[in-house]
This record gives sequence, structure tokens and C-alpha cells, in this order.
Amino acid sequence: MIKLNKVTKRFGSIVALDNISFEVKDGEFVFITGPSGAGKTTILKLILGQIVPDVGEVIVDGTDVGKLKLKDLPSFRQKMGVVFQDFKILPERTVDENVQVALAVIGLSKTEWDVRVKHALKLVGLSRQINLFPSQLSGGELQRLSLARALSVNPKIILADEPTGNLDWQTSDDLMKLFQKINEEGKTILMATHNLEIVKKHKKRVINIVGGKMENKTKNQKSEIEPKA
Ligand SMILES: Nc1ncnc2c1ncn2[C@@H]1O[C@H](COP(=O)(O)OP(=O)(O)OP(=O)(O)O)[C@@H](O)[C@H]1O
Ligand SMILES: [Mg+2]
Repeated sequence: MIKLNKVTKRFGSIVALDNISFEVKDGEFVFITGPSGAGKTTILKLILGQIVPDVGEVIVDGTDVGKLKLKDLPSFRQKMGVVFQDFKILPERTVDENVQVALAVIGLSKTEWDVRVKHALKLVGLSRQINLFPSQLSGGELQRLSLARALSVNPKIILADEPTGNLDWQTSDDLMKLFQKINEEGKTILMATHNLEIVKKHKKRVINIVGGKMENKTKNQKSEIEPKA
């Protein structure tokens, strides 16, 4: 379970998050929505332990993330797969190697790596592209590579930051189907997005952040957030 308890995060004079509280249960698929600068990425970074809250607690599976020691962060992060906005894809490495990078931290044998990489790439439909370089992939394929890398470590939780950014509707929809499938396989998904079309189509719970504050309580989303026409 992921739990934010009265979390406030400031960057200098900017209050990025102001008294945010919510829970995400195991196996849930939750959207974090809100305009640019609302604080969505900040929430994901707090959960990942990249930054610590000024006030309040971030708890993941009983662990107080803000209190983790630096040396305990890598093993803590193994429970999370991250699909972030800026891809963090290494341009000079092949598709295969980019997925392997994620596995480098967890100390598996080379044979196990190969199996995991092949499995993850197959799942996202990139088996044929295994030896290509990122510059040879389309935007949608890059996004799927990012997801494959996140999945390769077999995390319980997937944190996705605007994974459909810059994709056309069809490609976004295909990618969302993948997330849906992964969720049905039992993974918890927390996805930040301002793509309200997608949010509307997938009837998931929505946490809406505006100016660092929670706009709506975490209700079951139906019509509480309607995309503006
Ligand atoms: N490291 C940082 N230093 C200073 N300010 C920061 C830092 N990280 C975030 N902020 C500020 O905190 C606020 C929230 O940023 P955040 O990246 O969480 O927004 P977001 O909702 O993800 O926006 P977007 O939809 O554009 O990605 C913004 O005003 C941003 O400028
Ligand atoms: Mg962001």
C-alpha cells in the first residue's frame, strides 16, 4: 500500500504540495491528474524516495520513505518500476541493453537477465526491435521500451509519469491497454497524466491536484473530472 499522510513539499518559496493525503491499495490503478506544475511528478518522486517531504509521511508497504537511509534506497526501489517523463533511455545503448540496465542493480545472473529482458520486450511488443538503438524507434516504441524496462525488475508497483505524452490517440490507447493488462496481472499502478481523454475512458480512481492541493477527495471517479471539450 502507498500512503501519503498530510504531505507538504516546498522548493524554496514554491509550495509544490500542500497537505496531501491519500492511499493507494495493492492492485489499484489510480490516476493523478492536474495542470502543468500542479505537483504530480513531485508526488511520484516522493514515493520513489528521490525527494523527502518537509511535513508529513510517505509510506510504501509500511516503510516510511522519508526516513530511509541512502544505502537502503536501491533495495526499496526494487519494488517499483518507473516510467518517467524524460524516458531516461540511454541513446548509445540498444533496446536490449536499455532493459538490462534496469536489471543491473538487482544482481541476477546473465541467463536470468536474458530471460527477463526477452519476456518484458515480448510483453510490450518490441521483440523484433531488440537490437535497435533508441534513435531507430518511434515515439510509441520508446514509450514501450520505457515500460519494458520498468517491468523487467518485476516490481509490485508501477509509477508512470505522463507515459502517453506526445503520442497520438491510437498509440496512447494501445499503451493504455498494456497498462491495463499489467494491472490485471496484479500490479499497482499510479499514473500521472493530463490526458483527460484517457482518464475518461479508463474508469479508474482519480486524484486531482491543482496548485499542490487536492481538488477532489479520492472518490471513485465517474464524472467528477470531465474533460473540457
Ligand atoms: N527540484 C525543484 N526545484 C524547484 N522547484 C521545483 C522542483 N521540482 C518541482 N518544482 C516545482 O514544483 C511545482 C510542481 O512541479 P511538478 O513537476 O510536480 O508538476 P507536474 O504536476 O508534474 O507538472 P507537469 O504536468 O508539467 O509535469 C512546480 O511549480 C515546479 O516548478
Ligand atoms: Mg510532471
